[in-house]
Amino acid sequence: METYMLTREPKKSTEKYKNVLIKEGDTVFVDEWKHEKQEIELRIQENAKLFKGEVAIEIGGPSEMFSKSGLFPIYGLLDGIDNYNFNKDTYWFGNIPGGSRIIFDDGSTKHYYQHIGEGTKLPVKSKTYKVALSSHTLEHIANPLKALFEWRRVLKPRGVLLLIMPHKGATPDHLRPDTEKEHFLEDYTNDTDEDDLTHLDEILELHDLSRDPWVASMDAFKIRSLNNFNNRCLHHHVFSDEMLRWMLNYTGFKVLSIEVVPPCHVIIVSRVKRRW
Ligand SMILES: C[S@@+](CC[C@H](N)C(=O)[O-])C[C@H]1O[C@@H](n2cnc3c(N)ncnc32)[C@H](O)[C@@H]1O
Repeated sequence: METYMLTREPKKSTEKYKNVLIKEGDTVFVDEWKHEKQEIELRIQENAKLFKGEVAIEIGGPSEMFSKSGLFPIYGLLDGIDNYNFNKDTYWFGNIPGGSRIIFDDGSTKHYYQHIGEGTKLPVKSKTYKVALSSHTLEHIANPLKALFEWRRVLKPRGVLLLIMPHKGATPDHLRPDTEKEHFLEDYTNDTDEDDLTHLDEILELHDLSRDPWVASMDAFKIRSLNNFNNRCLHHHVFSDEMLRWMLNYTGFKVLSIEVVPPCHVIIVSRVKRRW
């Protein structure tokens, strides 16, 4: 089995934006995060019983957020994590084939395994996991209601979903309108798939490049966006907190807490509803 290490040595900082992942060759460096220590401890204390000793599925990991110095460091509480990414080769983490083990140089978790699978069609039996994690991934999925239904499918009864989403105010999406409920429902009814580029014109018009440390120019952004099926970098939709609450409720989750954390995160803990 191949092993890949994620190191958190910051190599250089970016001028445009704090708190970004910097990819250099095959290594992902994580810039220094400055989260409030007390808030993090409280978050963990309040939620520890939901995660401790469980094996989790993650969709779109690995995530700095869940590692030792992240804003919700629960990797260490879990017994193991099966991560599903849509491709072995991603814009964020380079090439990590399915079946590999990922280790974190700060010892965040001993058992973290990479698998390949679409977030909306996980090659996983129903009711397998007690915990599902996903950080900054649902906005990259063209059919988010389908994804949430799928994540609920693989969760056991009363399973827990820990979701981190972008808070649009501090992201390049801040000029875009929030996506309407009808649109999410249409995507679900039409079984919209990952080749969808419905929002491309809006994105190209309203994407705020000055808040995007990942792309050098609008031309480069356009080229990358047109190739979205292969790189999945687009934020298809823009989510208000209320809409996230509605979406989770609609797909069978009861929201336990929603927390907005600067500069650009919304943390939602939810649980599979008792009755559905
Ligand atoms: C913005 S990155 C977030 C990475 C990490 N979770 C974090 O918070 O730092 C989005 C991640 O979601 C993955 N992703 C995008 N679309 C996906 C899909 N349809 N199924 C599974 N993973 C997907 C990407 O490859 C990438 O790893």
